[in-house]
Parts: sequence; structure tokens; C-alpha cells
Amino acid sequence: MSLNPKKTILSFRPELFDFHGVSMTHYFTDNWENVQNFQARPDDILIATYPKAGTTWVSQILDLLYFGQTCPERQNNIPIYERVPFLEIAIPSLDSGYQSVISLWLYYHVSCFPYQSFPYSMFTPPPHAGKDLADKLPTTPRLIKTHFPVQFVPKSFWEQNCRIIYVARNAKDNMVSFFHFDRMNVIQPEAGEWDNYFHRFLEGQMVFGSWYDHVNGWWKKKQNYSNIHYMFYEDMIEDTEREIDKLCSFLGLSRSAEEKKMISGGVQFDKMKKNEMANYSTLPVMDFKISPFMRKGKVGDWKNHFTVAQNEVFDEDYKKKMKDPTLQFPTEI
Ligand code: A3P
Repeated sequence: MSLNPKKTILSFRPELFDFHGVSMTHYFTDNWENVQNFQARPDDILIATYPKAGTTWVSQILDLLYFGQTCPERQNNIPIYERVPFLEIAIPSLDSGYQSVISLWLYYHVSCFPYQSFPYSMFTPPPHAGKDLADKLPTTPRLIKTHFPVQFVPKSFWEQNCRIIYVARNAKDNMVSFFHFDRMNVIQPEAGEWDNYFHRFLEGQMVFGSWYDHVNGWWKKKQNYSNIHYMFYEDMIEDTEREIDKLCSFLGLSRSAEEKKMISGGVQFDKMKKNEMANYSTLPVMDFKISPFMRKGKVGDWKNHFTVAQNEVFDEDYKKKMKDPTLQFPTEI
């Protein structure tokens, strides 16, 4: 992994820059070549989302579906971001300031925590790249997360015909959730004032680029790549069990009704909010005093943020950007 050692604590609130036509920060591009060369396996499962669309929720469901019975200690001992590594993230290993805190933290958690069944030994240096974690995952299948727009996905996923689950969330709530996330996460650019953030979102000046390009790009890909299950956050809120059923059909899993019910119950918002292995409370880059990762978990919170004027601007702009009538979000908001 080639990481720029000049990026120190001062760069912790990173700058956005244009990367192949998409706004990105260095945390998600520093490891670009290695990530592009990632060797997917045919049974890998990729969970793809625009940030804040329900990635963690679906990751937890998949982890329970695959390993809830055979390896229940996973859910109690290993944080979600290690069970389901974030492919493109790369946090430099530097011996300065905050970054060494992260290094130590990763070292402690990845190496010394009672994960004897995991491949990390006490003596291996801490992995800092999601790609390395994904490479070393001992599970089959490997569950891997990405926020990449479709054109950035490493080609081996397509070559291996991997199953991909794409989760989309309505743009207004997605924007609000992203705003609060950027406020509390030091590896994201500063959120700034809400009104400015609102306009940046419309212009696609967000990490991982435009929401509109993301959801449309993945939708278009689904038309010629049949192994994408395109699902919606709002449907999960409406009926989690039904969506788990659909996931099982897509993945070719047969699970008893009782098991599906148990999983659905176990991943409801209040349960996940309290679950330290799913709520990101163990990550030092997030300040929950500003906003928790598991914030509200609702449909329609945008109404508490958008002014009437912003809503009009948004709706007008939305019509122009969302022209494909086959991509229908479940909730008219
Ligand atoms: P809010 O900020 O609107 O609360 P991601 O995992 O992609 O980062 O998405 C995070 C968003 O999903 C947050 O939205 C979070 O609260 C919500 N979320 C996570 N788990 C959830 C669950 N079990 N039920 C409902 N929403 C959930």
C-alpha cells in the first residue's frame, strides 16, 4: 500500500478533490491500485451503498444469516467493520499524533482481542487498509463493503460474477444522515453549515460523489449484470423480515422462518444502537457527543432539517436528475 507519509494529524479533516470525475478524499483513494487489483472470489458478497444508506444494517443481517448459527461469537466479539471490511478505506500508519492512536487502537483490537479464530496474530503489524482485512478474512463467503460508485468497483468482482447487494435510501434522508455523520467523523470533511451542505449535496460535492450518479449508476448496471440485488432502506423499515426473505432468495439461502424472525428482531434499530459490535462506538474517529452513528434510524427525518424553500429547490433539481422511470424509490416523500 502506498500511503503519503506527509499526511499527518493536520489532514485529519481531509479535503475533497476530483478523482476520475468523482469527489473523494485521500482516505479512499490512497490505496487505489491495490484495491483495483483486489482478487475477488466467486463466493464473495459485496455490499455496495452510497454512504449512510443502511450499509451497517444490511451488513449485520448478512453476517447473522451466514454465521449467526455457526459462529455466534463473531457478533459478540468482532466489530462490524472487521467482520465486513470496508474495501477502499486506507488509514496511514504513521507515528504521529492521532494516527498513532488509531494504529494502537487497531493493533489492540485486531491483534489482542480474543479473536483466536481470526488470522491476526499478536506479532503481525496492524492492518490499516480494508483491502488487507478483506484479503485475510477467514470466512466463506467473505462479506465486503464498498461505497464506490459502480465504475470504481475492482474488475475481479465482475469477472467472478460475485453477488452484489446494493442498498439505496431516499436522497433527502440520506443527505441528513450524511450531514450528521460528517459532523462527528474526523476522517470526513467538515460538514459546515446545513444550508451550504444542502447545496454541496445537490452538486455532488460529497465523499463518493453525487448521490444521483451513484444510485443511477448502480441501477443501470443492474440492467446488464443479473447478480445485483437492488434494495431500499425504506423497505427494510417497512418490513425487515420480508426484505430478509428477499435477501435469502437472492443468495440462495434457506433459513427457517424462526431464524429469519430472530434475525429481524435482533437487528431492529434499538438493538443495534446498543450493540457495541455494530454501533461503531469502538472507533476513535467518531465523536458520539456530536452525533451517534446510530442516530435516528427513521424515514422522514429530512422534514426536521429542510426549509420549505430548500425542499422546493430539491424537488425541482431531483426531477432533472432522476429521469429513469424504472428506478422507483418506495416512499414518495
Ligand atoms: P440515521 O443517521 O438517519 O439515523 P450506514 O450504515 O450506511 O452508514 O447508514 C447509517 C444510517 O442507517 C443511520 O441513519 C443509522 O441510524 C441507520 N441504521 C443503522 N442501523 C439501523 C437499523 N437497524 N434500523 C434502522 N436504521 C438503521
